[in-house]
Amino acid sequence: MVVLGIETSCDETAAAVIDDHALRTNVVLSQLNLHRQFGGVVPELASRAHLRAILPIIHKAINDSGYTKFQLEGIAVTKGPGLIGALLVGLNFAKAVALALQIPIVGINHLEGHIFANLLEHPDIKLPFICLIVSGGHTQLVLVEDWGVYKVLGRTIDDAAGEAFDKVAKLLKIGYPGGPVIDRLSQQGDSKFVDFPRAWMGNENLDFSFSGLKTAVLNYVQKQPPQFLKEHLVDIVSSFQAAVLDVLVGKTLLATQKFGVNRIALAGGVARNTALRQRFSQEADKNKMELYLPTPDFCTDNAAMISCAGLHYLKKGVADDLELDVSPSLNL
Ligand code: KG4
Ligand code: ZN
Repeated sequence: MVVLGIETSCDETAAAVIDDHALRTNVVLSQLNLHRQFGGVVPELASRAHLRAILPIIHKAINDSGYTKFQLEGIAVTKGPGLIGALLVGLNFAKAVALALQIPIVGINHLEGHIFANLLEHPDIKLPFICLIVSGGHTQLVLVEDWGVYKVLGRTIDDAAGEAFDKVAKLLKIGYPGGPVIDRLSQQGDSKFVDFPRAWMGNENLDFSFSGLKTAVLNYVQKQPPQFLKEHLVDIVSSFQAAVLDVLVGKTLLATQKFGVNRIALAGGVARNTALRQRFSQEADKNKMELYLPTPDFCTDNAAMISCAGLHYLKKGVADDLELDVSPSLNL
């Protein structure tokens, strides 16, 4: 089966073509430069940029795939969660293509798409596994019992992990998005320089909280003279990153123990983080666990993961009708 995937939930316009054997194309156009000047995604600008980009991006994904549009057998599109205007562009485009080509359409939960990035890369991945989804908008620990059968074990009660990276980078004025900048700077810093708080919220708790950490960084920074901040910038961001990572890694390991599962998968933009990947690799070795780390390009938003989830459902005969609508606040 040949499936076209479309993703427009936030600030990436993305399309991909997958078939039963492999991912054929994966085209992503990021709007980063458009939003950078505002220090965050501006929803209305995002929708308009999706409108401008969607046709050429989809053309490229199909043309480079070796298939023609008439060989497509299904469409998968992100239906939520995300920005309503941005989602509507992708969803309505997908509906038009499905109607014109008379092929089935399936709406995909973006968070489930992130989990499917692991299947895309490791078709032989075994079940069940614990998936840590860490993105700009979400932080969740999920027990994946089967594809489509998820138990959410914990989630953030305030900021998402990626959001914390972005907000700390903003308050330190070091660039947007914060994750990649802090990742790079941290590599030269001393992660023990400042002992920022770790929000464990009780020994058995699998929920996350990052807003206190963000405030702790703000309070610390406000008390230091500018010269000191400049000299120790890498140490401060490295200490902040270590506080985030300790909690992400610690709670994921706790989930594996609590649920007797020895497989971990990562998903979402923060899963690109160099130190996070290293920490998980070390822990997996130490605890003799299987670890699945999607390639960085499958961690941040893309349509390859959406096409993979779509292929899975469409092959099982699961499809939506043209009444399909966006769900901006969709949960897993
Ligand atoms: O999954 P994603 O592309 O979009 C959402 O669904 O939210 O994740 C974007 C988030 C941003 O907050 C960005 O700062 C973070 O992922 N990110 C990183 C890294 N690369 C992207 N965070 C930490 N380290 C990175 N290398
Ligand atoms: Zn995402």
